[in-house]
Amino acid sequence: MTIFLAILVIISMSKLSYGADDTITQSDSLSDGSTLISKDETFELGFFNPGSSPYRYLGIWYKNIPVQTVVWVANRDNPIKHSNSSKLIINKQGNLVLLSSNQSLLWSTNTTKKSSTPVVQLLNNGNLVIRDESDGESFLWQSFDYPTNTLLPEMKIGWDKKTGINRLQTAWKNWEDPSLGDFTSSMSLSNNPEVVVLKGSSEFYRTGPMIGTTSSGVYGMQDNPIFKSEVVSNEDEAYFLFTLKNKSVISIVVLNQTLMLLQRLVWIPASRKWSNYLNLPHDTCDGYNICGPYGKCVIDASPICQCLDGFKPKSPQQWSTMNWADGCVHTGNWSCGIKSRDGFLKVSGVKLPDTTNTWVDVNMTLNDCKLKCLQNCSCTAYSSFTSNEDSGGCTIWFNDLKDLRDSDSQRNLYVRIDASNIGDKHDYTKMAILVVSIIAFAFIVILLTLYIYKKKIKNKENKNEGEHYNLDLPCFDLATIFEATDNFSNVNKLGEGGFGPVYKGKLQDGQEIAVKRLSRSSGQGLNEFTNEVILCSKLQHRNLVKIVGYCVESDEKMLIYEYMSNTSLDSFIFDPIQSKVLDWPMRLNILYGIARGLLYLHQDSRLRIVHRDLKASNILLDQYMNPKISDFGLAKMCGDDQIKGKTSRIVGTYGYMAPEYATDGLFSIKSDVFSFGVLLLELISGKKNRTLAFNQNDHNLIAQAWRLWKEGVLYSLIDDSLTDTCIQNEALRCIQIGLLCLQHHPDDRPNMTSVVLMLSNNNILPLPHEPGYLYKNIRDEGEVSSEIQTSSSINNVTISQLDSR
Ligand SMILES: *[C@@H]1O[C@H](CO)[C@@H](O)[C@H](O)[C@H]1NC(C)=O
Ligand SMILES: *[C@@H]1O[C@H](CO)[C@@H](O)[C@H](O)[C@H]1NC(C)=O
Ligand SMILES: *[C@@H]1O[C@H](CO)[C@@H](O)[C@H](O)[C@H]1NC(C)=O
Ligand SMILES: *[C@@H]1O[C@H](CO)[C@@H](O)[C@H](O)[C@H]1NC(C)=O
Ligand SMILES: *[C@@H]1O[C@H](CO)[C@@H](O)[C@H](O)[C@H]1NC(C)=O
Ligand SMILES: *[C@@H]1O[C@H](CO)[C@@H](O)[C@H](O)[C@H]1NC(C)=O
Ligand SMILES: *[C@@H]1O[C@H](CO)[C@@H](O)[C@H](O)[C@H]1NC(C)=O
Ligand SMILES: *[C@@H]1O[C@H](CO)[C@@H](O)[C@H](O)[C@H]1NC(C)=O
Repeated sequence: MTIFLAILVIISMSKLSYGADDTITQSDSLSDGSTLISKDETFELGFFNPGSSPYRYLGIWYKNIPVQTVVWVANRDNPIKHSNSSKLIINKQGNLVLLSSNQSLLWSTNTTKKSSTPVVQLLNNGNLVIRDESDGESFLWQSFDYPTNTLLPEMKIGWDKKTGINRLQTAWKNWEDPSLGDFTSSMSLSNNPEVVVLKGSSEFYRTGPMIGTTSSGVYGMQDNPIFKSEVVSNEDEAYFLFTLKNKSVISIVVLNQTLMLLQRLVWIPASRKWSNYLNLPHDTCDGYNICGPYGKCVIDASPICQCLDGFKPKSPQQWSTMNWADGCVHTGNWSCGIKSRDGFLKVSGVKLPDTTNTWVDVNMTLNDCKLKCLQNCSCTAYSSFTSNEDSGGCTIWFNDLKDLRDSDSQRNLYVRIDASNIGDKHDYTKMAILVVSIIAFAFIVILLTLYIYKKKIKNKENKNEGEHYNLDLPCFDLATIFEATDNFSNVNKLGEGGFGPVYKGKLQDGQEIAVKRLSRSSGQGLNEFTNEVILCSKLQHRNLVKIVGYCVESDEKMLIYEYMSNTSLDSFIFDPIQSKVLDWPMRLNILYGIARGLLYLHQDSRLRIVHRDLKASNILLDQYMNPKISDFGLAKMCGDDQIKGKTSRIVGTYGYMAPEYATDGLFSIKSDVFSFGVLLLELISGKKNRTLAFNQNDHNLIAQAWRLWKEGVLYSLIDDSLTDTCIQNEALRCIQIGLLCLQHHPDDRPNMTSVVLMLSNNNILPLPHEPGYLYKNIRDEGEVSSEIQTSSSINNVTISQLDSR
């Protein structure tokens, strides 16, 4: 009896699960609940729910990996919604068809090839095929022709030029929804094949031309222990594929819409996890055409974009503010035709530019290639076709050269430049240059002699007059300032900072000024002070307040600034009525401005200044609401003359201070980045970081932002008065950047170059680590508590004298 029952069970089970090397024939079907397994049991075909989605899909996954890893989905855009009794069958036409419980069509293959005995089989490499029962070699249809988001070993990405099939990877919308995202990876169909990743219809990343096993743009593609890549481009096909060097290693390439990355993953059996072997884009320079036409992105440089030699920024104004989109233009004029006197600049170690508009001859010598380029007015550069320049053929670029970056490419690029930029083209050019050089040399010698002579005289004069500064910066006398500020009347007092009060004034010529009267206790010598004021007056940037003069007399020291009619940022963002004036575009503009000003202080100015007291009340607004950072020089004057250091005298404002600075006196450009993060959160939320009794859950704004981030409801941080004008994605991106700036460990925080970049492009952002909570630390450790008490009643007071130990 029991034996009979067991046999019954086995019989009823037999159609539920297809064993190794099994096939589905026309008389069978694969119903929901049963699976088809590849002969070596690596892959399994069946029905699944992605994540916690209620929808069911037909797909292929790794059978022996504990993490659900779906590598192919059939009915991506047409899920099974309400039933678990769907079926996969082979219909009369020999097509594979997915039917729902009421027999309606959910998905089908579309093959025109006929067979009398079609069978369906899942191969060991994960390829689902329809073939004739007796023919194991040729396929009537194969899933490898319809990739989803995953590239398996041996699977081709690219074109079958005969059938017109373009095999491209398309990301899932998200991890629970396999439907088509708008993030794709495909092979370009140019003469120089390369893999191109698109976001929507705009180019997001390209690998650079790929030939054989190499690419000019992807580091580490050639020598690696895991995989071997192969690129084939001929009349029939153009494709990329990879194979594994060690068959027992599991590795796939996945396109992930959420992360906006093309990732190579490798399965690590010991940790039972996928590990990221390679992410593309790899860094900022990998973003498509970051530096614009004829610009070159160098990841270690600052700023990262440079014009190629012989080219200059197209819009210098934009370029200097790190907006590189316009790229560079040629400084001379190209000349065309047989008589062309143009030359070429050899550029090595670059990812070759966008190959969309190129011409290729695989047999041409490099010299013929050069001549061919010279003769055609639209040729902008040439290169050998392979890395061997002796027999490497010829590639010619037409149109602007886009998307250049530093790389470990073996191929040289020869960029067209005109005769004025290079002189080795013709002999007569050489002659001319020789003559010009001689004349120039003679001229320089004469000039030098004159200069040295003059300098001697000048030195003598200087010695006679003693220590005098050659300033453009006016030194006002005390009487003028008294008059301008009406004897420092309280009516004219604009505010009080840690370094002393600020007064509004009006000079006799009508110019409005702001006078900062430094407190007498600064203990700095007069010469020292004057010297530094002059240095600071050389700091000029449109996002820094301009110093228009100074005054030193008896024991008074004053700085005279341009007057900002719209006062400071704090008077807007924290005021329920005024905050309505600042719509989203304005706030974004203010944010950019502050970031650029700070970047200038940190990196681009000669002095390299750590501000140390960045806060809303130190951001002044001009009549057009452009932000200007104020008090920047004071940081240097009253502090140590270093870019990074430790001080026992903490200058700054609680609420904006990085934890390592507030508790240990360690300051660096990264402590300014922290303050910038606080300022950013305040600007977007309209709340002060340190409002006492903030919220029962959070001790301050940083903590609140972090909680909301973790809960995935970051948008609730956005100021209510912004809801009409705010572009939520932009605001969320900004907040994420803010959180990156606020990370507890200074090394984790980005520098201002990165911040400015992140604010101005749409590349994927890293995930922030937990921020530094200043208040928590201080409370917990009970440090400097009495000072905090006194300052907490006035939120904005700068603490200028405070010994932390
Ligand atoms: C299908 O769903 C029903 C009810 O939702 C459930 O009882 C049944 O076990 C499911 N069948 C399979 C094969 O999962
Ligand atoms: C089958 O069910 C789906 C919904 O589950 C419905 O949209 C469709 O019209 C039905 N088809 C037939 C033939 O009943
Ligand atoms: C099947 O292919 C034919 C011709 O290639 C095309 O016209 C038709 O739309 C396709 N059908 C489906 C469902 O893809
Ligand atoms: C994208 O990457 C994230 C983070 O690793 C992961 O959680 C998610 O499942 C991935 N999405 C897809 C569709 O694989
Ligand atoms: C292949 O990989 C497996 C597992 O990682 C390892 O044990 C084996 O030694 C490798 N074989 C070769 C030839 O490297
Ligand atoms: C380039 O040509 C334009 C117009 O022909 C001329 O104005 C300009 O001066 C030329 N530039 C140089 C650097 O020769
Ligand atoms: C290049 O040379 C090879 C052999 O020398 C020849 O078969 C091929 O047709 C040539 N290709 C072109 C484009 O001239
Ligand atoms: C230059 O190359 C372009 C693109 O191949 C071509 O259309 C044009 O005719 C060529 N011009 C000359 C003068 O050869």
